[in-house]
This record gives sequence, structure tokens and C-alpha cells, in this order.
Amino acid sequence: MINPNTAAPIPATLADMVHRLDQARLTQSREEGEQSGTVPVSHYTDPQHWQQEQAALFGQWPIVAAHSSEIPIGSALPFDALGVPIVLTRAADGRVRAFLNVCRHRGMALIAGSDPGAEPAKAKACKALVCPYHAWTYELDGRLRHRLHAETFDGIDPATLNLVELPCDEASGLVVVKCSPGAAFSAEAFLQGLGAHMDWMGLPRMTVFRKVDRVYQANWKLTVDAFLEGYHIRVLHRDTIYPFFADAYTVNLHAGPHQDSLVARRAAFEAFEPPQGRDALCKLATPTQLVFPNTFLIWHPDYVSLIGMFSPAPDQVRWVHTMLIPPDRTGDDWTPHWEKTFQLIEQTVFQQEDIATAVAIQRGLSSGANTHFHLGRLEHEVLRFHHNIDEALGGRLGHGGPEG
Ligand code: FES
Ligand SMILES: [Fe+2]
Repeated sequence: MINPNTAAPIPATLADMVHRLDQARLTQSREEGEQSGTVPVSHYTDPQHWQQEQAALFGQWPIVAAHSSEIPIGSALPFDALGVPIVLTRAADGRVRAFLNVCRHRGMALIAGSDPGAEPAKAKACKALVCPYHAWTYELDGRLRHRLHAETFDGIDPATLNLVELPCDEASGLVVVKCSPGAAFSAEAFLQGLGAHMDWMGLPRMTVFRKVDRVYQANWKLTVDAFLEGYHIRVLHRDTIYPFFADAYTVNLHAGPHQDSLVARRAAFEAFEPPQGRDALCKLATPTQLVFPNTFLIWHPDYVSLIGMFSPAPDQVRWVHTMLIPPDRTGDDWTPHWEKTFQLIEQTVFQQEDIATAVAIQRGLSSGANTHFHLGRLEHEVLRFHHNIDEALGGRLGHGGPEG
């Protein structure tokens, strides 16, 4: 299968998923986990558990920070969702870099940060980063270029005053960063083969239509859980998207701790044709990828939701949803279509259904009604996600970097 959008043959692993989707349809059988299981409720509430996640997961793990198209050459974009002020830049050499957004003079932020609830920041076109406090100036590759009245600083080697760089790499249209300084890593290796699926689907060429950045009162894992099973679609989304979906027919692929899935749509059961490209595939199923631990890509029929679910507090999720559209469907003619689409998916389906459910669950967590949640065999990906969190917190899960 050649994707006419990207002129690339379908990766064998994705072709296998399509084949399994066809089998599920023909045999009317759902792929299930081996056994049901439980997740402790305390994992959504316990401040100590949250601190372990902050240290071992968000503090160490490569995290998707942006889509590549958000940072053109000669620009800088703030990224604050990890709780550490970060600035992403793309210098003339085309490479994306990440730095602590902290001036080496007296610590001022070099570009204004981005608060949840406000309009998300866009990349600022610039030739250099100029500190707004006393104008120390840095190249986009982090080197200190200029200090006002440099002669008044005694005994400091300016070469020690470059910006503090963070490990950052880019693959398949995703900019991935770690929020503490350390060894470089490969984003392609980190994606463990999922990048081939994203490339085939044309992710690197997508462009941003809209972005929202908000905080809700729910542990971040409650929103992750909601995108890892199709069991709820028939009920929670009965009046919105369920008319388009088959009931809980999903095939999954594991790539390290990441996951790809095809969530079957009714169209697959009505007339199954082997899909010739992304658009045809997205009519049969909604491909959904979890880039562990906290990023989803959801391939709707004609656009993509890139969603980061961050964790500012045990009972809060910072929800950053970027709507990506194909580059040949931009411009004024398309704007009303995308506005309407965004409103339906973000406000109606996500906010009023998935997120509202997570918030309602969070309210009841400390009631003591449940010590554990029970997950059936159709919810096996939720169990696997929580198992992988445990493994990561215990230091037993590598992320494909130099240290494994
Ligand atoms: S704090 Fe940046 S120049 Fe002084
Ligand atoms: Fe949902």
C-alpha cells in the first residue's frame, strides 16, 4: 500500500494491524487482554506517588513538547508544561534545541512563558535571544553573544555563561525534550518504530490550526486512561461520536511502552477495502498512538489531535491540545470547516465528555468507595499503561536513550 499523501509504502507493522482489523471484522471477535486486573486508587491521589512520577517520569523521560512545524528556522518557543521554564529554538542550521529559559546573568526569562488558560504562545521570530532585563544576548544555539558593559564583570570566563542546554531531539514531526540536563538521546530510537507509522501518515508535514492549554481538576492518568480503551465510546459518547464507531473493536500494537491502536469505525464493518493511504485508513478506523507516558496522537478522518497531558499537581491535569491539519487544506476557505470541527472535538467530545468524566472521578476518589479500580479484558491497555508507570518509577523501563 502506497500512501498517496506521502508516497511511502505502508510499514509492515501497520499493515499487520490493518490485517488484524479485517480479521476482527470478519470473525466479529474483539482483541482482549489475558486477564482483568486492578489499579490502586491511591495512584491518582497520593502526593508521594505524584512526587515519584515527577522525579522518575516527567523529570527524566523524553517528553513530546511541540510539533515540528511550531518552531520555524530563526524562532523561539516557550515550553512550560513540565513546570520548568524551557525555551525551544531552531537556529539557521535547522536543528531544534532546548534550553532552560533562564538568563545566566540574574535569571530573567529570556522569552515570556506560557500560562495555562491564556492563549498558547506562538514561536517568536528572532535572530537571537535578548534578555529583557539587561540585554545579555544569546545566539539561538545557546552561546552568549553579547553583554552590555561586559568590561564591568571581573574574572568570569564568558564561555561559562552560555545557556543551559537540555537534551532535545526531533523525529517524525515531534520535538522531544528532557527537562533536566544530561546525555543526548535519539528521538527516533525513543519512538521504537512508531515513527514509521507517523511518517507514513504524514505527521511531519502537518501544520497547526489551533491549540488550547488548560488545567482541569483531575489526575493526569485519568485522562490518559480515557484514551486507552474503546469500551466507553458506546456509552459516554453515545450522542456524539458513537454513531461513527463499532462497539469496542480495537487492535493494538506495542512498541516498548508506547502503543498504537486502530479503533474500528462502523465504515469498516460496512465495506472493507484495504486502505490505499492515510485518508482511507482513517475512514475505517481511528489510529491512536500513545507516546509514553503522556502524549496522544488521534487521527480523526481529516485532521490530527496532538494532546499532551501534564501533571502540575496530584489532582490536576494540564491539557495541551494541538489540532494539526494537512498543509493542502489551509487558508480562508477551510477556516470555517476547521473552526466547527475543533469546537466539536475539543469542547463537546473532549471537554464535556472525556475530561468532565475524569474530573467527576477525581471528586469521588477520596470518598473511600473504592480502594482499587477494576479493569476488564477490554481495558487491558489501561492496565498495561499503569504497569509501565510502575516499571518506570522502579527504574526498570528504558526509553531507548544511550542509557537504555
Ligand atoms: S537577568 Fe538577563 S541580562 Fe540581566
Ligand atoms: Fe472518550
